Amino acid sequence: MPETLTTALLDALPFAILLVNRMEKVAWANPVARSMFGPDLPGRPFVTVLRQPSIGEALEAALAQGAPGQVRARLTAGGREIAALATVAPLPQDADLRMPEGGAMVVIEDVTAVEDAEAMRRDFVANVSHELRTPLTALMGFIETLRGAARDDPAARDRFLSIMEREAARMNRLVGDLLSLSRVEAEERRRPTAEVDLTAVLKGAVQTLQPAAEAQKVALIREGAEGRLPVQGDPDQLTQVFANLVENAIKYGGAGGEVRINVSRIAHEPVLRGAALKVEVIDRGEGIEEIHLPRLTERFYRVDTHRSREQGGTGLGLAIVKHIVARHRGRLKIESEKGKGSRFIVLLPAI
Ligand SMILES: Nc1ncnc2c1ncn2[C@@H]1O[C@H](COP(=O)(O)OP(=O)(O)OP(=O)(O)O)[C@@H](O)[C@H]1O
Ligand SMILES: [Mg+2]
Repeated sequence: MPETLTTALLDALPFAILLVNRMEKVAWANPVARSMFGPDLPGRPFVTVLRQPSIGEALEAALAQGAPGQVRARLTAGGREIAALATVAPLPQDADLRMPEGGAMVVIEDVTAVEDAEAMRRDFVANVSHELRTPLTALMGFIETLRGAARDDPAARDRFLSIMEREAARMNRLVGDLLSLSRVEAEERRRPTAEVDLTAVLKGAVQTLQPAAEAQKVALIREGAEGRLPVQGDPDQLTQVFANLVENAIKYGGAGGEVRINVSRIAHEPVLRGAALKVEVIDRGEGIEEIHLPRLTERFYRVDTHRSREQGGTGLGLAIVKHIVARHRGRLKIESEKGKGSRFIVLLPAI
């Protein structure tokens, strides 16, 4: 294979590739390696480029014994810490013009995304188990009490049964939300095709939550654009989005006494690159501290776990909202100021 083709191939690979000579100096580096470790790599001692002892040892083994190796390591590349998979392969004499004595090839693969995904999956399973275990433990405790101490006490039995009913309902809701989340995730790439009237969707969501709002002495106010507002969407999922946001505003921002649902048309929305409909769910409650904002849409993330649980929340609501909005090719934005209230903004492409 001609030299130029080899170089062109190594240049094109999506990994960092470094050729290292017998003196442990970099003989050549591909563009990915240069973007990760700096522009002027050739001639530099390898240890000054990658100060990772385990990779250094693998390199020495390749140079001294001709032994290939593979190690995982955390290292700084391009100004950020990454999880790397380093593969070291010995190269014979005359394999490359730049290394007549032979040397080794070091390939660095950025596996951060893979490791993050693994960690997320582990966290998710741990979270689900924990969330299910709490009501389950309560249920088991009450069953035992009903069999023993409370056996012949009708008043206690009634009380315990209603607690058990509540805990079972919580488990049911959690499983329902998990199924809903996985369904939305599975079809996220398939954009809904039906034409839906956003005004009707919002009316429906407000109607459903009217009793909850009244119970909390919160006024639900629909304002802004009126008439038919068509979007390309799934009516049930869109209803779920706004029911969730309005429910949150009542539950966590109800102290302000009102929740406004404001709809407006935007002729050109830069983020969506076109005409859009904007729905804002605004409360005057206590607001959310800034550090929480980027994490609110994570599964099970709650600012005040105890309070959310008390209110029967699973912490999955906003995660579902985010996926549904993404499926509709829209955007979810959250603005909040501690003490003043929150604003949840949904942008949807208009048709
Ligand atoms: N309008 C709001 N004002 C203040 N905090 C909010 C508001 N909306 C959401 N939050 C915070 O964000 C968290 C996550 O909301 P999310 O809807 O995902 O879960 P949840 O409401 O706890 O449970 P679920 O929606 O499953 O019933 C809430 O627990 C709450 O702490
Ligand atoms: Mg919620």
